[in-house]
Amino acid sequence: MHDKLFIPGPVEVSAKTWAAFARPMIGHRSQTFKDLYAAIHPPLQRLFGTGQPVFLATSSAWGVMEGAIRNVVGKRVLNCMCGAFSDKWLDVSRRCGKQAEALQVDWGQHIDPQRLDEKLATGEFDAVTLIHNETSTGVMSPLREICNVLRRYPDVVSIVDTVSSFSAVPIAMDELGIDVLITGSQKALALPPGLALFSVSEKAFARAKQQTDRGYYFDFLEFKKNQEGDMTPSTPSVAHIHALQSKLEEIFSEGIAARHARHAATNTLVHAWVRKNGFEFFAKEGYRSVTLTCIRNNRQIDVAKLAKDLRAKHHLVIDGGYGKLKGQTFRLSNMGDETEETVSHLLAGLDDCLE
Ligand SMILES: Cc1ncc(COP(=O)(O)O)c(C=O)c1O
Repeated sequence: MHDKLFIPGPVEVSAKTWAAFARPMIGHRSQTFKDLYAAIHPPLQRLFGTGQPVFLATSSAWGVMEGAIRNVVGKRVLNCMCGAFSDKWLDVSRRCGKQAEALQVDWGQHIDPQRLDEKLATGEFDAVTLIHNETSTGVMSPLREICNVLRRYPDVVSIVDTVSSFSAVPIAMDELGIDVLITGSQKALALPPGLALFSVSEKAFARAKQQTDRGYYFDFLEFKKNQEGDMTPSTPSVAHIHALQSKLEEIFSEGIAARHARHAATNTLVHAWVRKNGFEFFAKEGYRSVTLTCIRNNRQIDVAKLAKDLRAKHHLVIDGGYGKLKGQTFRLSNMGDETEETVSHLLAGLDDCLE
């Protein structure tokens, strides 16, 4: 029996997905590969809510997150920061040699559309980074309201990370007007880590054309050119793409709405457990993630011991808090293939170990 992950990514990978991952290898310039990419492209577009091409990059999400900076930041980027992952984007932007400024709020807070509006009104920025679901704090920022603000700034290219919310909540890229939408394989898609998926608007392609330092591996225009022939610029992780095909079949046979409802239902179970046990939420009501719960350790329990006992007794793995929140919080994930039954099993195990 293996230890099952209920950390907020990577998450448990099913036997069905592993079987697809282990399919015999195919050449990435073969017709078989082209047929594979061509077959999964329309469902990928549906999942992204876009008519734009969807690209597959063999890297973790940060590869494309950094690549997006290199492709679309010309003048100056505004990094919306509310936790470990969104904060990091300022550092990454500067390491890419870009002018960058923080729109920082305290960890646990969400990005306020009004403050974003005020910053953009200065006219200093031509790109914005946003993390929809800040995994370190369990905060989901109000994407629609933020996108409504962004719409008023046609010269600003938006880069939106949906790494830990993608496919678990509705995110319609074209309708929201998102320019670069990025996600990773190891969160709600419940695939092994190592694949990033992204889509790019015409506005962002036009911006990319103006950038002379896009590099090669994450050059959006290389991805576009290759996707037109159902290929990727360089040798991709074919195994991931086989697994993705299997996952897309599952997603559409479950139904997207049912998938969203399942994540909402399992998240509700976790929330009820938090309240029943006298814990508090790290995120404010109305801004809580639907895919993971960041629990404030207001009872001053020994979080490390809880996690250790749960693993030893029940073979279940939870996260004991990210970075500076270690011990002050702990995080339970309900993303991926989890059901009310499996999440209830986790919560029963936690009850057992808390006693
Ligand atoms: C919201 C978010 N963005 C970005 C990342 C970075 O992803 P990766 O480690 O796959 O590059 C993570 C990882 O947990 C994340 O949760």
